[in-house]
Amino acid sequence: MSEKANTGRTTGNNLDPWYHHYAQRTAGLSASEVRALFAVASRPEVVSLAGGMPFVSALPQDLVTDSLNRVMRDLGPTALQYGSGQGVPALREQILEVMALEGIQGSADDVIVTTGSQHALELVTKLFIDPGDVVLAEGPSYVTAMVVFNSFQAEVDHVPMDEWGLIPEALREHIASLKAAGKTIKFLYTIPNFHNPAGVTLSWERRLEILEIAKQNDILVLEDNPYGLLYFDGPPPQALRSVESDGVVYLGTFSKTLAPGFRVGWALAPHAIREKLILANEAAILCPSSFSQLVISEYLKNADWKGQINTFRGVYRERKETMLSALSEHLPELSWTNPTGGFYVWLTLPAHLDSKAMLPRAVTELVAYTPGTAFYADGGGRQNIRLSFCYPTPESIRVGVRRLATVINGELDLLETFAGTGSLDAVRTPRNSFPPSDMH
Ligand SMILES: Cc1ncc(COP(=O)(O)O)c(C=O)c1O
Repeated sequence: MSEKANTGRTTGNNLDPWYHHYAQRTAGLSASEVRALFAVASRPEVVSLAGGMPFVSALPQDLVTDSLNRVMRDLGPTALQYGSGQGVPALREQILEVMALEGIQGSADDVIVTTGSQHALELVTKLFIDPGDVVLAEGPSYVTAMVVFNSFQAEVDHVPMDEWGLIPEALREHIASLKAAGKTIKFLYTIPNFHNPAGVTLSWERRLEILEIAKQNDILVLEDNPYGLLYFDGPPPQALRSVESDGVVYLGTFSKTLAPGFRVGWALAPHAIREKLILANEAAILCPSSFSQLVISEYLKNADWKGQINTFRGVYRERKETMLSALSEHLPELSWTNPTGGFYVWLTLPAHLDSKAMLPRAVTELVAYTPGTAFYADGGGRQNIRLSFCYPTPESIRVGVRRLATVINGELDLLETFAGTGSLDAVRTPRNSFPPSDMH
């Protein structure tokens, strides 16, 4: 291919010969910081506190193997065939049982099985977003949801949170000012339980208030709940969808409570929306994997899946406690959130430290994390770090936090040297302050 594309525009130095052919929305498909990190963090000598991989080794292999064998023995031709674009009916019924644990009552008719909840996120965005439409999302928010929103040319508007989750008053203010600016708000994307990355849970009172605000303003709520069943002590408040069925699209997944390798998630949609979601699902993938769905269905039928979720809870609870105690030991002057479930701790650095700029140094010290900037569409998050405790063993977590402390203290020493003040008081943050000063 020549340096000049068919459009007649020169491609300059760009090495991609198709540079000028891409649709405009492709510009939103930039590689996330998390993605770039995986390559580095997967080196065995690096302790990765970066990724959100569930600890699937806690799942006894024979549980899965038994289900696999039964599917192949009893349902082989069906499992290997195309299936319904909406998903296997028996599994959709079982999904209702899973959601009932979060207070949700629905109909299997309104469940659409997708290729992970990530795919449901993409389908809902595709159905609703025109370029320039606004998606309201917590600040910070789940990085790969924002990649989807950007790829459909949505504008992401971050609404601040505190330790009780999204702040309703701030939501009201954001809606009012966006409307005054003539913007079209299409939906509110929220992760109410054990938030990724902030680790906080939306209180019950706020759930009710946020639903009311959404209703008053005719805004759809997209409730993303991958972690709700992975609580440490008591369950989180019931789902937003348990209160409101017409204005909420609920997303669930087997990725964290079973295994992400199956790539099975789902949407529970208001009846009016579900037909379009099924059509969008069919257009994208024809049907979700019959094989994966049937294996999960067998597993739910025959295995003690609730007991297995309890096992996962115990594993993650221990890791969270290890991480928090290592942080208290090695970085006692910093602040962080204390999640009551899920995978993540959100750490606030001393003022003037930059989580993104510090990352190469951390990798040199053989520890990886995700800089807070990955979780904002607007450049926020420099003073924050997401630490994941789901995958590394407790021992690795201790090593990782110790290395992180070396990096942070090294940066502070540098800062002190250059500031020449001899005092660090000005750059240290008060313990357990939330929200961090740059959460906007
Ligand atoms: C908040 C959130 N939503 C959605 C997903 C996607 O999960 P999956 O596609 O595996 O169901 C993740 C995965 O980490 C997540 O953290």
